[in-house]
Amino acid sequence: MRKKIIAGNWKMNMTFEEGQKLTSEIVNMYKDENIQDVTVVLNPPFPHIHPVKKLIGETSGVAVGAQNCSDKESGAYTGEVSAKILSSFGVEYVIIGHSERREYFKEDNELLAVKVKQALANGLSPIFCCGESLEIREAGTHEPNVKFQLTDSLFDLTAEEISKVVIAYEPIWAIGTGKTATADQAQEMHAALRRHLGNKYGKEVANNIPILYGGSMNAGNAAELLSKPDVDGGLIGGASLKSRDFLEIIKSY
Ligand code: PGA
Repeated sequence: MRKKIIAGNWKMNMTFEEGQKLTSEIVNMYKDENIQDVTVVLNPPFPHIHPVKKLIGETSGVAVGAQNCSDKESGAYTGEVSAKILSSFGVEYVIIGHSERREYFKEDNELLAVKVKQALANGLSPIFCCGESLEIREAGTHEPNVKFQLTDSLFDLTAEEISKVVIAYEPIWAIGTGKTATADQAQEMHAALRRHLGNKYGKEVANNIPILYGGSMNAGNAAELLSKPDVDGGLIGGASLKSRDFLEIIKSY
């Protein structure tokens, strides 16, 4: 059985107080609803990690993730945060290769491959993001385009290593735009990515890798997207900033 994961990506939002309030509400609702089969991952900005982790406490099923990590191991890299530091704070997941990092910070497949290795070497599960632009979708080359992102950044990993990776398919044209991929479009791409993983690592390994959908997922469209056989959860931006909306998505699973 693949893990079901609902991950919230706070991006560069939330002051200390806002983050504390949001986390408490999510943790309390998660406990009250007695949710057991969905792992929730909160990915706040770096300074929130320790206090968020404290609020989560021993709540099993809720974990903390980071939104990025350095490709370097340690040392004189002012402003960077290593996977080792994250791990020492109890972080379990790290988003790598979000389209905003690719676009605004010029992170390419090669650099992302190094970040993935750093994460894995320090016991973190990378949530590896991939997805195509609107231009590529309209040209009809989205499938080879996204498959290549996996090949180029992940296919040097061993089967054991890739088994710790979570994939997030996030069509760029759907991120923060209110425009979601249809459930069928998501399923089609997720199935294609799983076949691609299977061709390299075998069916059993591929069948155990969670593939999340991201891009304007909200309480209204989550149930349909999450009902698809190859959609194993969501990576949620905007709708993860409101506890009720985020919980509705978790519940609709
Ligand atoms: P969105 O963001 O839900 O606001 O579209 C998703 C993401 O960027 O991970």
